[in-house]
Amino acid sequence: MSIAIVLGTRPEIIKMAPMIRECQRRGQDFFVLHTGQHYSYEMDKVFFTQLELPQPHYNLDVGSGSHAEQTGKIMSGIEKILIKEDPDIVLVQGDTNTVMAGALAASKLHIEVGHIEAGLRSFDRNMPEEINRVVADHISDYLFAPTETAKSHLLKEGIDDAKISITGNTIVDSVYQSRDIAERKINALTDLGIKPKEYFLVTAHRAENVDDRARLKEIIKGLELINKEYSLPVIFPMHPRTKKMIQVFGIEFDGIRAIDPVGFLEFLQLEANAKLALTDSGGVQEETCILGVPCVTLRDNTERPETLEAKSNLLAGANSAEILKGTKHMLQQGNGWKNPFGNGNASKCILDFIAIT
Ligand code: UD1
Ligand code: UDP
Repeated sequence: MSIAIVLGTRPEIIKMAPMIRECQRRGQDFFVLHTGQHYSYEMDKVFFTQLELPQPHYNLDVGSGSHAEQTGKIMSGIEKILIKEDPDIVLVQGDTNTVMAGALAASKLHIEVGHIEAGLRSFDRNMPEEINRVVADHISDYLFAPTETAKSHLLKEGIDDAKISITGNTIVDSVYQSRDIAERKINALTDLGIKPKEYFLVTAHRAENVDDRARLKEIIKGLELINKEYSLPVIFPMHPRTKKMIQVFGIEFDGIRAIDPVGFLEFLQLEANAKLALTDSGGVQEETCILGVPCVTLRDNTERPETLEAKSNLLAGANSAEILKGTKHMLQQGNGWKNPFGNGNASKCILDFIAIT
């Protein structure tokens, strides 16, 4: 059996890394197809180097563009490679344009599709990711749901129970596989001159936040309020989209340390030692829950409700006063929750499931 692993963005590289390692460990026939949706060194190559992943066998170099342009380029590029390689199954992970385009191209060629991280729903179709998730789930042959909640969404939408398996999320595998390496090899805090539990960590990149001037300004204002209230550094490794929009909107800020995006090992260390993280990232909501660090999500909804139930995370939206209030609330609360995303064996479960069916 041969497997095509399709990926294209930072979170997909991080969450597919355990799948690639598990394929290598089993001597599984596989190849990696990178769409090139992310291409800047710090959004792409740094992860292959740090995580010691093999170079992708193919890179479509599609780069940035409108949704239709990017999706179309990915589909036509993937189609040619799938026809040539004729794999038995295509694996996609998450909810990006790469995922929807990869799943569509494969399914139209009658190649089986496995969707890792299936069944997540924000129930907000304004998010491009929600459309990508729904499409990918409904054309997939294997749905690897991280939790019971994710599975229940798929069943409610009429997807056949036999196609679904609950595997946990490969982010747990990834965090467990990299946490100790980060502790041994990386000195991110020393390099930034900060101390454990004496700084806040921020990421924000969602289109609905950073492409909207008013929302982005309010988020920045909320971070400034936190800096003033606690007199602690606010470290913000800035996604290129956010950096671009801050320049376009001419937004200025004070008391926030914007830095370039960092590698996964640095980021894990920064997350594990943060007093609290503020984010609109899906992966960061999960990782903080796994690492026992409180999180405030800068969104009105989340497709990770397990983190709200665990009380590791709170939705603050994009209002500055609510962001400060949410931060205070999360800091008053303890952090004794249980990680709901599995025990770090998701990649093994997924490959076992594919092997027996
Ligand atoms: C994409 C995904 C989003 C995911 C995020 C992970 C879609 C619709 N969005 O959003 O779900 O959470 O990746 O980070 O698939 N850019 C660079 N260098 C890069 C990549 C992007 O400078 O390597 C800049 C470009 O100006 C580009 C912008 O970022 O126009 C947005 O990139 P794009 O891939 O379209 O979406 P993301 O916001 O990264
Ligand atoms: N991340 C990273 N460096 C950074 C910021 C984030 O390695 O500077 C990692 C983070 O640990 C997580 C992933 O990137 O695993 C999240 O990616 P992103 O927020 O871009 O996408 P999302 O998870 O929202 O789809």
